[in-house]
Amino acid sequence: MLYTVLDAEGLIAEFTHAVAAPFVPEVQLYLADELVPVWHATEWRTAAPQPPPFWAFAWPGSMALARFVFDNPAFVAGKRVLDYGSGSGLAAIAAARCGASDVLAYDLDPIAAIAQRLNAEVNGVQLSIVTGDATLATTECDVILAGDVCYEREPAEATITWLRGQAARGRLVLVADPGRHYAPTDGLELLETYQLPVLRELESQELKRTRLWRLLNL
Ligand SMILES: C[S@@+](CC[C@H](N)C(=O)[O-])C[C@H]1O[C@@H](n2cnc3c(N)ncnc32)[C@H](O)[C@@H]1O
Repeated sequence: MLYTVLDAEGLIAEFTHAVAAPFVPEVQLYLADELVPVWHATEWRTAAPQPPPFWAFAWPGSMALARFVFDNPAFVAGKRVLDYGSGSGLAAIAAARCGASDVLAYDLDPIAAIAQRLNAEVNGVQLSIVTGDATLATTECDVILAGDVCYEREPAEATITWLRGQAARGRLVLVADPGRHYAPTDGLELLETYQLPVLRELESQELKRTRLWRLLNL
């Protein structure tokens, strides 16, 4: 990717603004109102095809995880937390605000790392931020948050295999999913169901039922 940090900050400044996260007003995020302009600008400025700017939106997964963490802080307080496919960093920021001892935001997209840093700053929290494939992560942690990361078949299979491996090692793995096709269907304990406000442009509806599970150690 041809992006410099300065370019990414400029992109974020131009196409997003800091607002209270939907359903999680405790957190401020730099969010976009529309997908297409920020996606086109990302591709134009990098002169290359790019994945959607996931970092510019609060997806239902991290809304659910962040809401759950604020309402149940004991799940993360004093714990080392890894946010898998962190996007904007919403779930990671919620964990940091609720007393996690260390929070790692992991995402493939280097622009997400810049957005996470800016979002952490506006909320006055510190995150450790890693750009890379989280299925290769070897970081020690106690709790893994995985919000809305089952939207493509092969990556979802790799993700679920990695998450199940973590659960088998005794880590608490919380998965939140709004009904994506490749989400896991078994080995789950349902903890919460939310009706979450979403952008019609992204989801073709305005409310999205999203479930939050603990992945069982089978
Ligand atoms: C739909 S977005 C969800 C973002 C955030 N969790 C939320 O719910 O708002 C999926 C995110 O997962 C990231 N991602 C997908 N596969 C990944 C992987 N193997 N390692 C790290 N990040 C990944 C993408 O780059 C993207 O930011």
